[in-house]
Amino acid sequence: MPASTDAAPILEVEHLKVYFPILGGVFRHQVGEVKAVDDVSFTVQRGETVGLVGESGSGKTTLGRAIIRLNEPTAGVIKYEGKVISDLSARAFWPYRKKIQIIFQDPYNSLNPRLSIFEIVGEALEIHFPQMSRADRRERVAGLLKQVGLQPEHLDRYPHEFSGGQRQRIGIARALAVGPEFIVCDEPVSALDVSVQAQIVNLLQDLQEELGLTYLFIAHDLAVVEHISDHVLVMNQGKIVEAASAEAIYENPQHEYTRKLLAAVPKL
Ligand SMILES: Nc1ncnc2c1ncn2[C@@H]1O[C@H](COP(=O)(O)OP(=O)(O)O)[C@@H](O)[C@H]1O
Ligand SMILES: [Mg+2]
Repeated sequence: MPASTDAAPILEVEHLKVYFPILGGVFRHQVGEVKAVDDVSFTVQRGETVGLVGESGSGKTTLGRAIIRLNEPTAGVIKYEGKVISDLSARAFWPYRKKIQIIFQDPYNSLNPRLSIFEIVGEALEIHFPQMSRADRRERVAGLLKQVGLQPEHLDRYPHEFSGGQRQRIGIARALAVGPEFIVCDEPVSALDVSVQAQIVNLLQDLQEELGLTYLFIAHDLAVVEHISDHVLVMNQGKIVEAASAEAIYENPQHEYTRKLLAAVPKL
């Protein structure tokens, strides 16, 4: 739960645009552009979860990646704790790489199959805390595995030895390794069996409470975000078409597109 709603937001996105060029012709010059994120503004308060929903292709991942500087904004501003981070050099953005992390959609493709769990989860520790000894790193990774519900002694195993749900727990441990404040959760349960989705959502909620985390929680399914979100943003074709408290979205959707998404939600 948000500690205080009148405090300055942890994240502010103002008129953000991310356009991708469409290249064509023999000379591969630009013949058009994809407006993946098209003038999006919203804020996130510390400690809350903001759900971001929309059909596939609506621009959710592009928006999430822009926040962690994996996509360059075409226009607009992103502020973290009141400071503009969208125009920082890689060097100036470095401290924010610890504060802001991402959990990817597909736990099958987002873990390097040639690396052990210790190497995957410990990589960011090695980069951000170079003075940390290998023994301390192993201890920290073992602790992280335990924290996400895996057996700490499995740290020398490889991704293929784990189920989808367990792999996503590894992805969560990796995101937690450097002690982030804000996590972009990009459809963290979409690739998982329905039976394990709730376990992962519950884990994320427990971790949020334990560690005081803030989430931008992306999903294409309103049922998933209803459970976890304080506020919900509905995105369609690069634009936010509706923004409201989770309750209001479900009880009194204002936009046609939101009603369409709601109609697609199976009643549990
Ligand atoms: N790197 C890229 N280059 C060109 N187009 C892209 C790139 N990434 C995403 N897009 C396009 O931007 C739009 C939004 O994609 P995305 O952000 O992945 O949507 P979502 O996550 O909601 O499914 C889509 O039309 C997609 O094809
Ligand atoms: Mg996506």
